Amino acid sequence: MTSPAATTYRIAVIPGDGIGPEVIAAGRRVLDAVGERFGFAVEWREIVVGGRAIDTYGVPIRDEDLAICAGSDAVYLGAIGGPKWDDPNAAVRPEQALFALRGGLELFANLRPVTVEPALAPSSPLRPALLRGVDMLIVRELTSGLYFGRPSEERRTPEGRVGVDTLWYTEAEIRRVVRVAFELARGRRGRLTSVDKANVLATSRLWRKVVEEMRPDFPTVIVEHRLVDAAAMLLIQHPAAFDVIVTENLFGDILSDEASVLAGSLGMLPSASIGERRTAHGIFGLYEPIHGSAPDIAGQDRANPIGTILSGAMLLRWSLGRPEAAAAVEAAVRAALRAGWRTLDLVPSDGGAEGVSVVGTEAFTGAVIERLPDPVPAGAAR
Ligand code: IPM
Ligand code: MG
Repeated sequence: MTSPAATTYRIAVIPGDGIGPEVIAAGRRVLDAVGERFGFAVEWREIVVGGRAIDTYGVPIRDEDLAICAGSDAVYLGAIGGPKWDDPNAAVRPEQALFALRGGLELFANLRPVTVEPALAPSSPLRPALLRGVDMLIVRELTSGLYFGRPSEERRTPEGRVGVDTLWYTEAEIRRVVRVAFELARGRRGRLTSVDKANVLATSRLWRKVVEEMRPDFPTVIVEHRLVDAAAMLLIQHPAAFDVIVTENLFGDILSDEASVLAGSLGMLPSASIGERRTAHGIFGLYEPIHGSAPDIAGQDRANPIGTILSGAMLLRWSLGRPEAAAAVEAAVRAALRAGWRTLDLVPSDGGAEGVSVVGTEAFTGAVIERLPDPVPAGAAR
């Protein structure tokens, strides 16, 4: 029940392409429902960004839509891209919108928590014993590195075509994201793993130096450095050993997809992208599941909405200062899974799952909403 004085938050919402609109519809339903329970409302500012924007406006994102994002309390995004816009010769690509949002809004730290719901252990191809106690947070640098370095182009040379990308990091770019990771590690189990390729790359050697220079500011945090190839192996061999991982843009992209196997499906993982700017309510940020637009299952009510719903919980916690509402959403997702509700991606390929009900995106979302706490009576404070 929303009293007239209840807070209204402004959230820019980008359904995007493929399964994006379906998972975002699910996330919106959950956030609206939890708002009713906790006495707040959301003003949704829906904008067209990505492949659909290329079709509609000829560009992946318009300046005025970026401005709507910047002027909101947070941004909620489904997924962007698809085969329709994949031509390698195309001048504009949907993913450019992601980079315009991340770079333009200075969201340099991408937080990707990975936990394993015990009820889902059979959904992972890994042995259940390996998954016990997995609770890690990947902090991925998001606005520099190979994704943003220039030049990035194809050249015609006398030796034939040459592709060039630039790997570039300033010490300030490294320091600000490593600081976020140190602070988060201090508030968790106090372990920070910095992942790099310092035996090959100059950017990685600078990264290591900066981490070492910052170490004295965080005396309670135990720091270790790992090379990315070894880290990729350990992530599967001994995942429970990790607490906070901090790494550069491309390594973080790759390792986080790998880590999603632990959680049972890529569809499970949420993310928050934050910078330094604050709003009246919290830290400004962009929230999206880590999965892509999955065009093969789009429009079929088959997508797993959990990554998006849990991204909504991160939005509540980080950008709206609503930790109780965030915890209620997370508890409702867990309860729905424990009651046996599953989307198709969570059904083990060997079929070995008894007592589970496989449902579509909408029904799963309903099962989550049913498990939110009862609405607060009008006039009562929470
Ligand atoms: C992600 C995605 C994007 C990335 C793609 C869609 C450009 O994989 O958010 O992890 O590489 O950053
Ligand atoms: Mg990725």
